[in-house]
Order: sequence, then structure tokens, then C-alpha cells
Amino acid sequence: MWGGRFAEGPSAVMREINASIPFDKRMWRQDLRGSQAHVAMLGKQGIVSAEDAARIAEGLEQVAAEFEAEGVPDDLALEDIHMLAEARLADLIGPSAGRLHTARSRNDQVATDFRLWVRDAIDQAEAALEGLQDALLSRAEEHAASVMPGFTHLQSAQPVTLGHHLMAYFEMFARDRSRLTDARARMNLCPLGAAALAGTGFPLDRDATAAALGFDGPTRNSLDSVSDRDFAIEYLTAAVQCSLHLSRLAEEFVIWASQPFGFVSLSDQWSTGSSIMPQKRNPDAAELVRGHSGRIAGALVSLMMTMKGLPLAYSKDMQDDKPPVFEAHDLLGLCIAAMTGMVESATFRTDRMRALAESGFATATDLADWLVREAGVPFREAHHITGRAVAAAEGAGIRLDQLSLDALKEIDARIDDRVYGVLSVDASVNSRTSFGGTAPVRVRAAIVAARKGLEEE
Ligand code: ARG
Repeated sequence: MWGGRFAEGPSAVMREINASIPFDKRMWRQDLRGSQAHVAMLGKQGIVSAEDAARIAEGLEQVAAEFEAEGVPDDLALEDIHMLAEARLADLIGPSAGRLHTARSRNDQVATDFRLWVRDAIDQAEAALEGLQDALLSRAEEHAASVMPGFTHLQSAQPVTLGHHLMAYFEMFARDRSRLTDARARMNLCPLGAAALAGTGFPLDRDATAAALGFDGPTRNSLDSVSDRDFAIEYLTAAVQCSLHLSRLAEEFVIWASQPFGFVSLSDQWSTGSSIMPQKRNPDAAELVRGHSGRIAGALVSLMMTMKGLPLAYSKDMQDDKPPVFEAHDLLGLCIAAMTGMVESATFRTDRMRALAESGFATATDLADWLVREAGVPFREAHHITGRAVAAAEGAGIRLDQLSLDALKEIDARIDDRVYGVLSVDASVNSRTSFGGTAPVRVRAAIVAARKGLEEE
């Protein structure tokens, strides 16, 4: 394709280091789509004849059909998907294939292809996340009033409901989706027509190619068009943030599935056994979601390091932009699908959750609040009194609500039997009615609003 000024071909190692076809063939659909839009515009503008444009368009369709049926060959001599597709076109239609690359460079071509690919990737990730949100909503609906211990420092803190806990993740994934939407909106401009770096003298219609490819318009600066990969970095940033959320949810499943917790039993489909310990039922998928988040973060760092010192415009370093994005996208898709499956099929041990919520003095704050409300005690003093009640219950090996009224009165005479109304875990969660709180009425309202939001999208 560029052999005119060379007497010798590249060495084998040169060929190997230079070739991107083993990975960028994954963009063949985007590449052919871009070429179709380009040649249609060239024909309309009279830059190539209508006959040539039609022949090329037909040939490109044939190439697409071949790639679809037989896959894309790994021909290192042809460097990349752009050259390979054009070479195949030339095999099929002859010399008029050479007119396709008029007023185009691989630099604006690859920038366009990659944007199209990342845009599709964003749409896929968004749809997958919606599925996960839907699964979380269904399980939250089921468990809007199922009491579990809420933790801080992984120490029993205050009772919450499982539905509330699951809805916390719903919120995180909603933000992840909005980050993806933002990134998509910002990147949706078409670099085609920037040519190598400076634009072109041919009378292109950049608006037409942009519109044909579903972009909002053409990019505004030719140098920026071929040099920018921040759209991919933005996608990876959103992917990393999402994978961190997935990893935290996965970690909860790992902890909850452990015997000491016993909050959840993962379905057979989402568990693995041990080759030596017959009793084992391991949460491998959750652990891998946790692990993969590190690799997705690594992909972001990799691309940022590729880009950080490059002067304008294109440098070949930029060819390294694709492997980390492809890898991160695949891992993210796998992680979302795995967490969706685990959430959908998990059996939540609500009896066990309730027992642990009741055993950890999780209603101590409710006792302190009661003293403030009903006996006019300053909160700091109420905190101290409650601490003594917890110590007494702990010493006797009983729950707070099992302390006798005499025992409570001995700690503070202002306590009366109405206090038992706030010491149960149900009373505790039912009382947390502030907006965004864990009271089942609030959780149900949040679920209704969330469901409505999903349906209106
Ligand atoms: N395979 C190249 C890439 O992925 C395409 C652009 C090549 N451009 C060039 N001037 N060598 O970046």
C-alpha cells in the first residue's frame, strides 16, 4: 500500500511489531461501515464517479459477507484491518478499489472506526447494566422488609433491610450508566475528513458522512480529530468506576456466603466445588468479579500511559489503544453478566440475617434516641447510659430487649416500659422514615420510583 518509495520489504520482526491485525480485526464491521459512508459521500460529491462509487459499495458488501462467513484472516503483511479490508476489496473489484481511500488517511479512518466501536461498547454496557438494575430491583422488592444488620467497620451498626442494601447498589449502577451516557454524548462527533492531520483539499461533505454514521456532526479540528483518544479513556474511566461497584457487590457476596455469616447461599450455577474438600461451595465468580476490576483499572492506566506524552498528531504508539479497551470491555461485560446471574439466583437467608441483626446490640442507638426523646436526656449522656445497658446485656449474654425493666431502671431510673417499643430490630427499621432511610415504607417508595425511572427510559 505504501511500497512506492521502498526497495526492500520489512523484516519479519518489523512486520510483527507493526501489525495490529490480530486485534484490530475486531473492528471490521465499523471499518466497512465507515468506508461505505465515505464512498457514498465521494460519489455524491463527484470526487469519484458514480459507477466507481457503486462498484466499491457493492464490493464492500461482498467483503462484509466474507468476513461474516469466514472470519478475518490474520495476514500480518497487510498490517491492519484498514489495509486488509481494502486489499480484499481490490481482489474482488480490481483497480477501482484504489479510489476508496481518496481524501482519507488511515489516521482519520482508525479514529472513526474506534469511535464507532467504543460507541457500540457503551451501548452494550449500558444495556447490560440495566439488566443488573432490574435484577436488583426485583430482589429488593422481595426483601423490602427483610431485616439484616447494617455495618460500619464491618461491625454490626444499626439494623437495615436487605431491600435497602440492594437498592444502594441500584443507585451506584444508575450513576455508572449516566457516566456512560455522558461519555457517549461527548464522543459522538465524526473524525472522518480530517485525513492524515491537516484536512484535505477535496470538496468533502463531512456533515454527510457524520450523519450517515450516526454522529451528531463532524469533529471541529483536524489535528485533534486524529490524535484524540480521550473518548476511549473516558469509556474506560466509566468502566473502571462501574467495575469497582461490581467488585464491592461481589465482595459482599463473598462475605455473605461464608459460613460465619451465612447470609446467602449461591445457586449451584454460580458456585464451584473443591477438588479435595467435598463440603466446599466456593463463590469463585464473585471473587473473579472482584479480581477483574483490577485488570479493568490496569487497562485504563495502560491507555493513559500510551497517550500521556504524545505530541500532535498521530504516532504509532496510538495503535496500542485498542487491546486495553477491548480487554476491559470484555471483562466488564462478563462481570456484569455474572453479578446479574448471582443476584437473580441467590437464596437470601433472611432468618440468619435477622438473628445476627438481633445479636449485635444494633438497636443501641434506638435506646439512646428514646432517652433523648422521651426523657429529655442530652444525647451525649444518653449515649453513656446506653453503653452501660449494652455492657450489662453483654455480661448477661442476652439481647438489649431481654434486659428486665428492673435492670434497665438500675442503670437509669428515667427508663420505663415504653422503651421496649423501640428495642426490637423491626421497630428500629420501621422508625427510619427519613427520605432515603431504611424504613420498609421508604424502601418500597424508592423501588416504585426506581422502577418507574427504568420504564420511562
Ligand atoms: N493500525 C493503525 C492504528 O491502529 C492505523 C493507523 C495507521 N496510520 C499510520 N499513519 N501508520 O493506529
